[in-house]
This record gives sequence, C-alpha cells and structure tokens, in this order.
Amino acid sequence: MTPTESTLPARQSVRPAGLSIRDRFRSRRTANFTESVIREMTRLALEVDAVNLAQGFPDFAAPAEIKEAACQAISDEHNQYTITWGSPNLRRALAGYYLRWYGLSLDPEREITVCCGSTEGMIASLLATTNPGEEVIVFEPYYENYGPDTWLCGAERRLVRLHPPHWTFDPDELRRAFNRRTKAIIVTNPHNPTGKVFTRGELEQIAALCQEHDALAITDEIYEHILYDGARHIPLATLPGMRDRTILVNSLSKTFSVTGWRVGWVAAAPDLAESIRKVHDFLTVNSPAPMQQAAVLALSLPDAFYAALGEHYRRRRDYLLSALERAGFEPFRPLGAYYVMAGISGFGADDDVAFTRRLLSRAGVAGVPGSSFFENPADGANLIRFCFCKKYETLEAAADRLARADLRTPA
Ligand SMILES: Cc1ncc(COP(=O)(O)O)c(C=O)c1O
Repeated sequence: MTPTESTLPARQSVRPAGLSIRDRFRSRRTANFTESVIREMTRLALEVDAVNLAQGFPDFAAPAEIKEAACQAISDEHNQYTITWGSPNLRRALAGYYLRWYGLSLDPEREITVCCGSTEGMIASLLATTNPGEEVIVFEPYYENYGPDTWLCGAERRLVRLHPPHWTFDPDELRRAFNRRTKAIIVTNPHNPTGKVFTRGELEQIAALCQEHDALAITDEIYEHILYDGARHIPLATLPGMRDRTILVNSLSKTFSVTGWRVGWVAAAPDLAESIRKVHDFLTVNSPAPMQQAAVLALSLPDAFYAALGEHYRRRRDYLLSALERAGFEPFRPLGAYYVMAGISGFGADDDVAFTRRLLSRAGVAGVPGSSFFENPADGANLIRFCFCKKYETLEAAADRLARADLRTPA
C-alpha cells in the first residue's frame, strides 16, 4: 500500500520557534533597503486620488508613430528572444544616434548593449565592474536607485555634496573622495532630483580625477534632451581620455515618454561591455523584442521632435515654478530633467515626510520627501521634489489645489 498524505507522519519543522519566514529567508543583501519612496508615493496618491507629482512618468500620450511601430512589430512577429545584447538594427541605430548628436563613434557589434531600461543598465554595469568593499562616488542628493544598486554589489557609496542654489560641488571635496578603493563615480547628467546640468568645466574636473585614480565614470544620461535656458548636454565619454573609461547608460523612457517599455542601453568599450553583457544576459536575457523595433523608429525622429520636447517641458517647468512660488514654496530652478526641488521652510516646516503627508491630505497633491535623496534624512528635511512631466491640466489642478490648501499650520 502506498502511503497517502494523511497516513504520513507530520514533518517536523527545523525552523527555530519564533524565527519568522521573513527573517529565515530574507537575504542579507536585501535587508538594508526598503520599498522605493517614490513608487510608494505613487501608491498613496492613487489611494487618495491625489494629483501625482511624485513619480517621474508622463500622464500624456506617447508619440503616435512609435506606438504604431510597436504594434506593427508585434504583428510582424518580433515576439521571440532577441540577441541578448540587442537586435542588430537597434544597435546600429544607436551607433548612428551617438554619431549624429555628439560625434561619438561606437561599434554596434562590441560596444552597445541593449537592456531593460537604464535601471538594468546601471545595476548590470555596477555588478560587472565593482567588487565588495570597493567605493563608488555618488553626488548627493542622488536618485534613490543608486542606494540599492551599490548595496546589491557590496560596494560602498562615497558621497559628494551638491550645494544649492546651483547644485555646485566643492572641487576639493570631490578630490578628497577619490582614493585607492575608488572604482567608479556615478554622474547623473542632467541630474535628478536637482535639475543640475554639469558644465564642461565640472566634467573636466571629474575626468581628470578619474584618470588620475584609474577610475571609471558611469553616466546616467536619461534626461539628455530635456534642457532649459540654453544648457547643453555634454556626454562625459566625449572628453579627452574618457572614451574608454566611461560607461554611458541611457534609455528611451524619458525622451520618448515610454517609461513602461523598458528599452535602455549601455555604451562602453569592448573590454567593459564584455562583462556587462554577461551580467545582462543572466539578469534579463533581453529587452522586449517589439519595443526594440519601435526604438529604431524613435531614434530616427527628426530634430523637430527634440525641439518640441524641450519647449513642451520648458513651459511646464515655468508654470510649476510660479505655482509653487505662489503657494509659498521656495523652488530651485532646474536647468534640465523634469523635476523641481522646493524648500518648505516658508511653511514653518522642517519635517519633509510629515509635510508630504500634509500635502497629500490637505491639498491632494503628491510630492517626494527630500530626505529620500539623502543618506542622512536630516539633510533633505526641508525639501520636497515635484515632477512636471504631466499634462497641462494635471499641473493646473495641482496649482489650484496648492493655492487653496492651508499648508502652513501643522495638524
Ligand atoms: C536618473 C534616472 N535614472 C534612471 C531612471 C530609470 O530609467 P529607466 O526607465 O530607463 O529604467 C530614472 C527614472 O526616473 C531616473 O530619474
């Protein structure tokens, strides 16, 4: 007779009493970070039907022609795995794009890796190049992903402060940050959350230190085309001596308003690309095949598309800046990307998290607490970040709600 489940003796659990599933099975490498504050704010905004100026994704339509290209690609049976580092025609299109915009020549066969957004591009690059105990320099405030990215690699972050109002860094502090353990510096340019656009002079200082200390630069250039007031984007890879020690990370997400498509790429010299490609292959295999085909079309859009993009965001930036000022915030004027960092001291507030809750409940507007961009929460306690990649009417609704709400008196 074969025993049925009910005739078998109950299995003894080997887990000590009192040890929860979470504590038994959660890896040490995930213990140090929590849910993304930004994505959490989006959830809360949905719960209370707030105007969401927290997470940086557009609420307007993506360009019609690239949506059609994606649908067409599905009909044309681009539905299977692609070559892991990207469809050949997309890699060729990317090489053409960098030549067109920056005169940067890249070998599509050996230097371009298409991945699932720049999110994957960044973590794959860090996993491929850093070892536990090595240091990665990060300008602070910083885009929150770099925290978990470096933790998951076991690398240590060495922070260099950007100072308002223009978010400049102290060259001596940057120099002091480089040392024997430095493996790389992350340069987000244009910068989220501050809207800083690094000048050529600043990039030259970074380049000189990378060369002096034999370090890599990993550049996150996802906002490269969202620039204001005559600011120019200069890829660090185009500076003398940086071509082979820069890992350039970018994606379709922001330029083409398709954050959900997950098409990004990494451009790096062949010796670096080889290990990045290995990590990418085993993390995700490939970015969605039909979206890669639509990306080829996106990258061929004419200059007029980019000019319209800049103007589209400039108008929204100016609108949000004046709405925030009128409501009593002290906003810092961004030169790039689509976020505004705003001071809240005028409300007598010095706790950004409590103020964000006040903003949600009294005005029905979601922003991101400034502390989520700083290692020491106290350093961002008087700041809130708002994004303006939204329909005009969304920004108008936010402005209207902010104007009517009493944000001054604490609960
Ligand atoms: C600086 C920066 N890098 C990367 C990302 C994520 O980009 P992707 O959608 O390409 O993964 C964002 C999104 O907000 C960002 O602000």
